[in-house]
Amino acid sequence: MVKLTASEKEQYLNELIEFLKIPSISADSAFSDQVKQAAQWVADALTKAGADGVKIVPTKGYPIVYGEKIIDPNLPTLLVYGHYDVQPPDPLDLWDSPAFEPVIKKTNIHPEGAIFARGACDDKGQMYMHIKAFEWMMLNDQLTCNVKFMIEGEEEVGSDNLEAFVREHKEELNCDIILISDTGMISNSQPSITTGLRGLSYMEVKVTGPNRDLHSGLYGGAVANPINILAKMIAQLQDDQNKITVPGFYDKVIPVSDHERKEMAKAPFDLKKYIASIDLADIHGEEGYTTRERQTIRPTLDVNGIWGGYTGEGAKTVIASEAYAKISMRLVPNQDWEEIGQLFEKHFRAIAPKSVKLEVTTHHGGEPYVTPIDNIGYQAAHKAYATSFGVEPFPQRGGGSIPIVPLFEKVLGVKSVLMGFGLDTDAIHSPNEHFGLFNFYKGIETIPLFYQNYTALSK
Ligand code: BES
Ligand code: MN
Ligand code: MN
Repeated sequence: MVKLTASEKEQYLNELIEFLKIPSISADSAFSDQVKQAAQWVADALTKAGADGVKIVPTKGYPIVYGEKIIDPNLPTLLVYGHYDVQPPDPLDLWDSPAFEPVIKKTNIHPEGAIFARGACDDKGQMYMHIKAFEWMMLNDQLTCNVKFMIEGEEEVGSDNLEAFVREHKEELNCDIILISDTGMISNSQPSITTGLRGLSYMEVKVTGPNRDLHSGLYGGAVANPINILAKMIAQLQDDQNKITVPGFYDKVIPVSDHERKEMAKAPFDLKKYIASIDLADIHGEEGYTTRERQTIRPTLDVNGIWGGYTGEGAKTVIASEAYAKISMRLVPNQDWEEIGQLFEKHFRAIAPKSVKLEVTTHHGGEPYVTPIDNIGYQAAHKAYATSFGVEPFPQRGGGSIPIVPLFEKVLGVKSVLMGFGLDTDAIHSPNEHFGLFNFYKGIETIPLFYQNYTALSK
């Protein structure tokens, strides 16, 4: 079993701090130089760790960093995937310390300390665990199989150029299993392995009323207010049971069996703590399902942003000409994201009154994904966690999406193992994102065990 020394821990952490200082925000073109700088940083780290053939492959968007170590073609090959881009840090004023000036602080959940910075958990910290685990295996002569690294810089904006890259480099990416740390686990005392991801269909709508903003006294009451109309349309998308009203939306959903639901319910989940951790008065969701089920095995529809009209200081009496909303739907097996987008558009058009114009556009999407627990990749991960944590991990479906994972299956025909080490409370995508030092080091110690177990189980 791997046990990192104090000096290894210190070195790895200091390197991660440097990496986290690079504001590699893929959504904001003002940071394009920094995103590319992060790609270079990953390439250098891979080279230093001992990877061969390290290259920064340009795409139409941000580059993909590739590197490999082939020790014996007869041994199994892992493909490690991760991303070096991060979400925008906004809203900046809600950070206790600047998003790109990493600091270590203790929290109740992370008594050993956690590193606070954008990307600490999603995904720089988790991806870097793989580079360090690889370096450790190289230095200690413990690499048991071949490994390829493919690290991208557009995950947070939909991985638009990755599918083409995977198709074009199908031979080069040939592997037996894909290993990803970009998800979470139940808690530091109860590990879990993510066995599913939800799909995503991300839409934007624009409602146009009058040809210009109008005085709300002169015109109010006599014309359609696009903001009122949009709010009303959105409100109709869910019924009293919080079921989505888009016709056909649930048609292809494969129901999870009662047996599997019972198994899932065995994983510990403290609803009171969950509610308290986000300062809620009560929970909310689709009738007939538990909170964990609502988060993972059920599809959803959420407005991510809504705007229009006057939002500045004070009051302005106005009827806006336009109103907008960004709407995302999380999908479960066997929903098809493009089909769901079409069903959404059809329904949204059907409920729009004649008094307004409607535009519907698709941003991006991805299919849902499941790793069966009888897969040897899952089993190798299960054993690895059991050894390093001293506790058996639970399989758990995840609520988030990583659209490239189902694409890997479609294009390469290879399953992914989602060995995440983050916690739901690590505030990914939120202000004060952090990653526990315990989690960072435990991840580096667990990964080599996965390599060992996977190699042994492949024989
Ligand atoms: N790492 C997350 C996905 C995730 C987090 C899955 C936690 C399961 C548990 C990833 O970086 C992410 O944010 N994905 C986006 C989708 C993408 C198309 C922007 C998401 O889930 O919103
Ligand atoms: Mn991620
Ligand atoms: Mn993310």
